[in-house]
Amino acid sequence: MSGTLKVPDIFPPMIQVQQLQYAYPGREELTVKGIDFQIRPGESFGFLGPSGAGKSTTQKILIKLLPSFRGTVQVMDRPLQEWDKSFYNHIGVGFELPNHFGKLSALENLKFFGSFYNRPLLDAMELLEKVGLKNDAHKLVRDYSKGMKMRLNFVRALQHDPEILFFDEPTSGLDPTNARTIKDIILDQKARGKTLFITTHNMHDAEELCDRVAFIVDGQIRLIDSPKALKLKHGQRQVKIEYLNGETVKKTFPLDELGKNDEFLRILREEQIETIHSEEASLEDIFIEVTGQRLT
Ligand SMILES: Nc1ncnc2c1ncn2[C@@H]1O[C@H](COP(=O)(O)OP(=O)(O)OP(=O)(O)O)[C@@H](O)[C@H]1O
Ligand SMILES: [Mg+2]
Repeated sequence: MSGTLKVPDIFPPMIQVQQLQYAYPGREELTVKGIDFQIRPGESFGFLGPSGAGKSTTQKILIKLLPSFRGTVQVMDRPLQEWDKSFYNHIGVGFELPNHFGKLSALENLKFFGSFYNRPLLDAMELLEKVGLKNDAHKLVRDYSKGMKMRLNFVRALQHDPEILFFDEPTSGLDPTNARTIKDIILDQKARGKTLFITTHNMHDAEELCDRVAFIVDGQIRLIDSPKALKLKHGQRQVKIEYLNGETVKKTFPLDELGKNDEFLRILREEQIETIHSEEASLEDIFIEVTGQRLT
């Protein structure tokens, strides 16, 4: 448990999507092929799928960048079409690819983008400090590395303290330390009751950050569930054993009733064991089992 309060289901969903379809202009084939899901207030929802599945496209629809969709999208109980510019006061967006002004410093970029909001802003320097950019606050963004741009991109989404946060591949291109920082900030936002829509093909991120995940392949959602429930349903707990018999032999056995498994007991008695450990199915194993496709 993350320690956050679960919002009772009597509240309307923050995001409700029904029969959503989308084709890029000039393209006959649908990129999003009739998907349905809803996200409750304070919930962290992950969109997990391989490259080209339609994750970023869906996020762009939800943030009103691609208006010519079919189906229904309601955000904060109001159809997307009925929202005016005030919509952007309520959402924060971390784009897949950073889009800053290279000739401005990080601080100037934050101030510029912050000026569009009709809301008090969080302190820009404090935000930069959170992601290790305080000392580079006055550096021009064109001289930033990719990872620095990603971190700036990330805090830009937070500065007006919106209710809903959209992050498209938030840890992509980051080293482990910076990825950890970003994930901790996301978890902190979640603890503060924010609603999160996270797009990723990183199963570890999805598992750690999301209450529920949707498996999306080829513009369709194949399954929606919590990572924990998925592991219970699909992940048979196993023991993996490696022993030397001329060459290394690898075998797996179900953890249940292991003490009655004759072959396992024989190996323990007779073979020269190299390693032995238990493991549960990863979200990636389950993704492959359910969709028949790999995540990357
Ligand atoms: N502007 C565009 N015009 C036409 N087709 C597009 C456009 N953007 C994306 N597509 C196509 O839509 C499909 C889905 O793309 P999308 O960017 O949503 O995938 P994704 O799931 O986010 O993948 P990734 O993990 O690589 O970011 C792809 O086949 C892509 O080529
Ligand atoms: Mg994408």
